Amino acid sequence: MKVLFIGDIVGNTGRKAVKQLLPELKQKYNPHIIIANAENAAGGRGVTGAIVKEFLDLGVHGFTMGNHTWDNKDIFEWIDEEPRMVRPANFPEGTPGKGHTVIKANGKELVIINLQGRTFLPAIDCPFQKADDILRGLGKKPRAILVDFHAEATSEKIAMGWHLDGRASLVVGTHTHVQTNDDTILPNGTAYLTDVGMVGSREGVLGMEREAVLRKFRTQLPVRFVVDEGKWQFHALVVEIDEATGKATKLDKIRIREGEWMMS
Ligand SMILES: [Fe+2]
Ligand SMILES: [Fe+2]
Repeated sequence: MKVLFIGDIVGNTGRKAVKQLLPELKQKYNPHIIIANAENAAGGRGVTGAIVKEFLDLGVHGFTMGNHTWDNKDIFEWIDEEPRMVRPANFPEGTPGKGHTVIKANGKELVIINLQGRTFLPAIDCPFQKADDILRGLGKKPRAILVDFHAEATSEKIAMGWHLDGRASLVVGTHTHVQTNDDTILPNGTAYLTDVGMVGSREGVLGMEREAVLRKFRTQLPVRFVVDEGKWQFHALVVEIDEATGKATKLDKIRIREGEWMMS
């Protein structure tokens, strides 16, 4: 089976890019299941029910989140009833929502798991142990499993790749918004990429207006970041998974820049 995974979609600029590109990408790659990280989809902070609906209508089947999960309060209204969204599984006990779920589409089944790193991010529960707990609960039968590890430090992400090698089909990083060039299939069959990159403006800083970010760096004063409306860039990946074994057979990075149309 083929899975298309789209990195952090940042605000209106990112949503515009997804809307524009998805029909073409579906044609080119024929993915059975499409998953997107939606933690920045609403003005860079969190996501709303209306935006989730917008993505579902475009053909996205499931969503992962991250440290911005709770930034838009709208999410508290529906996350417990939304079966297609996961937030980091290692958030404290009692947090709304869930950390893993099964996405079914086009006759295929994909387990999606969201975890968050603890290096340069809040000290939540251990993502490595939480991954073990979830995988234990899923049983021994081989399954297609996608892990979105939302983390800052490349070392923590690489370590998670090794930790889950042979136990997940894909371990992909999100959160840093910049696509890394270390895509590989680990020795025991787990496809791995440290960060898939974001979908948002390429004229700002990580999707936000550069002037505000620069002001913050220069003055250290509190600044309100706003989504940049410049030309977009789109980052995603396509992974092919052998359902009989749960192992990945192929990983393709996707990087497209508005006005350049570079596909790799
Ligand atoms: Fe993000
Ligand atoms: Fe993040």
